[in-house]
Amino acid sequence: MTDRSSGESNSAQASQLRCIGCGVVCAKAEQNFRCADCGDLIEIVYPEWSSTVLDAGTLRTLWRQRRTSGLPVDESGVWRFRELLPSFDWQEIITLREGNTPLYEMPSCARIAGLQQLYAKHQGMNPTGSFKDTGMTLAASAARREGFRWVACASTGNTSASMAAYAARGEMRSLVLIPEGKVSWGKLSQALDYGAVTCQLKTDFDGCMRLLNEVVQRSQVYLLNSVNPYRLEGQKTAAIELMEQFDWQPPDHIIVPGGNLGNSSALGKAFLEMKQLGFISTLPKVSIIQAAGANPLVRMMRENGGNKLISVQAETAASAIRIGSPASWKKAVAVLKATAGAVEQVSEIEIALAKAEIGADGVGCEPASAVTLAGLKKLVKQGFVKSGESVVLILTGHLLKDPEFTLKFHRGDLFSATESEREADILKPQQRAPIVLDATVDAVIQVLRKADDQLET
Ligand code: F0G
Repeated sequence: MTDRSSGESNSAQASQLRCIGCGVVCAKAEQNFRCADCGDLIEIVYPEWSSTVLDAGTLRTLWRQRRTSGLPVDESGVWRFRELLPSFDWQEIITLREGNTPLYEMPSCARIAGLQQLYAKHQGMNPTGSFKDTGMTLAASAARREGFRWVACASTGNTSASMAAYAARGEMRSLVLIPEGKVSWGKLSQALDYGAVTCQLKTDFDGCMRLLNEVVQRSQVYLLNSVNPYRLEGQKTAAIELMEQFDWQPPDHIIVPGGNLGNSSALGKAFLEMKQLGFISTLPKVSIIQAAGANPLVRMMRENGGNKLISVQAETAASAIRIGSPASWKKAVAVLKATAGAVEQVSEIEIALAKAEIGADGVGCEPASAVTLAGLKKLVKQGFVKSGESVVLILTGHLLKDPEFTLKFHRGDLFSATESEREADILKPQQRAPIVLDATVDAVIQVLRKADDQLET
């Protein structure tokens, strides 16, 4: 397929759907995006790619030039890199101008972690507040191109918010399956406002996923979870954009939260492809951090070297990554091995503390994103990350996604009546509960003085 509206024809973009298990190439994906022969996941590959067909120098200049263009496909920080994506007719593209997210220096978090240099790539600065938008623009466009009226996902909240928005923009209906009581209000309210049919099921994310897999087999709905390989192709562009922000000099480490393991797989794929095409000369180590209560990847890496999925009953207040049976585990293990990355797990207290520390750098994120800093601290202590190395945390969701967590943290009730209640005392210096006052100038000035004194002591 070519870019008809632009007149561009780029045979290098001819993509194939290939099974990651048996390697069979299929002309059309099954409804559940699994191989009809062996049941493994599908990935998108580009057999025509080579550094002569896709010249890194030419593309770097072209991608930069597009930043001044007013065309929707150029304004999108995903489609700007379209030479490394499956080809779409521009009229088929649904875009909310996703991508183009900031890279922040994190000086105080760097000091806390014991590093000279630390950066955060904030994917929460996407249109619906999470990294999901970068993948959704591709996968929703694919759904519309194939003529689907309905799209669907199981979600811990962010995928559903993103899917609902892109479906609405593309004039499709959307069906959301979420675990009852386990999705933050910020995310749930987004799905409702964007017009999704939202079902809260009395099960967890893994249960929603199992159920949805049967629904898509039995009805004409297009699956938009990250088993859909178009999602990962879009999410790949965060890594390309990051390398552009680093002037194509890769950092030593990338630290990513792990849930269903689509994002780590996507970012890893991008780094490997950029290396293959000569955009970068070294690979950053991609490390994946999970909540200790939702740690299937950590367990399988430690117990069987990543050869066999170990499912767990997931429990964590970082509800975005409350996933016990991750779909993309094989792809993520391949990334860990290819980039020599590490896995680590962090406790609920460590997540809460790291989230407040990221907030104190003026950046902020949702709990699931904060596992990156919490995990990094451990990787530094273990010597896996050295103090002089450059590190990028991938912050996946916006602070406002889960205000309830943040308020509970600052009011000091996040760990009330839990077994971590005592340990939670270490969080006190970070907590700033709102102060209820008489409406007088004196009262406010007194608070100001007291806060100033506390800062000086
Ligand atoms: N961070 C946030 C904020 C997320 O929403 C998710 C996943 C992850 C990290 C983990 O990414 O699954 O690619 O390993 N959220 C999905 C959802 C599962 O339904 O919104 P992953």
